[in-house]
Amino acid sequence: MVSLRMAGRAGVLLVGLVVLASSAGTLSPRFGADEAAATLATSDQVLRGRALVIHHGCGDCHGGGGNPAASGWLAGAMDSTYEFKIGPFKTRPRNLTPDNTTGMGRFSERQIFNAIRYGLRPGETPDVTITSTIPGQGNFPANPKYLAPPMPWPAFRHMTDQELMDIAAYLKRGVKPVRHVVQDSEGPPDFWASAYTVDKIGPYPNPAFPSANEVSVAAMK
Ligand code: HEC
Repeated sequence: MVSLRMAGRAGVLLVGLVVLASSAGTLSPRFGADEAAATLATSDQVLRGRALVIHHGCGDCHGGGGNPAASGWLAGAMDSTYEFKIGPFKTRPRNLTPDNTTGMGRFSERQIFNAIRYGLRPGETPDVTITSTIPGQGNFPANPKYLAPPMPWPAFRHMTDQELMDIAAYLKRGVKPVRHVVQDSEGPPDFWASAYTVDKIGPYPNPAFPSANEVSVAAMK
C-alpha cells in the first residue's frame, strides 16, 4: 500500500522532469519551460514541508503519528485520548487538513505561518504580515490570542521563514481535506499571554552567538 503510493508519486515527478527536459529544447505551446519549473518548485516545496511535518512530530498530536498513510493523518483530535489537561483546562489539537470549513482551508498560508512563528490563533488574527515580535508594537496585536499549550510554537518559531512556508504549503496543498470538527480548546481569558512571556519561552530571535553558555567557533579550533 505504502510502496504503491510512493511509486505513484515518483512516477508523477518523473513525468514532470521529462516535460521540463523536452519543453526546454522545443518549446511546447501548452506547457512552457517556466511553467514546468514553477510546477516542480511547488512540488519540491510541498515535499520539503512534508518532511518537516514528519520529523517535527506534528502527527503525534494532530493525528496519524509519524505515518502520512495512517488514517486520521493531521485530521485533529478524534476523541478524549487526544486531549491535553493544562491546569484546569482541556486543549485539543486542531484539524490541519485543508478542509474549507473545519481545517486549514479557512486560512491563508500566511495565517498558518503566523500561527507557527508567533503563536497567533489563525481564526482570531488578521491575515497580515506581522511587523514586530512584541505585542502592541508594529501591527502585532496588542492583546494577542495565542494558541493553547502544548502546541510547541515557542520552539517551532525558530524555524526559518522558508521552512514555515514549506509547512504551510504542505498543509494547504499536499494533504487531502478531511471534514472533521474539533471542539475548541479551553483556556484562560488572556489566551495564555501570561504563559508566553520572554522569561518563560525565551527570546525571538535568538541572542547573538556565542551567548554566555556557548563557545565561539574560533575558540573551538
Ligand atoms: C505536543 C502536541 C502538538 C504538536 C507536536 C503540534 N501541535 Fe499544533 N496544536 C496543538 C494543540 C493542542 C493545538 C490547539 C491550540 C488551541 O486550541 O489554541 C494546536 C494548534 C495548531 C494550529 C492552529 C490551528 C487552528 O485551526 O487554530 C496549527 C496551524 C498547528 N497546530 C500546526 C502544527 C504543526 C505544523 C506542527 C508540527 C510542526 C504541530 N502543530 C505540532 C498541539 C500540537
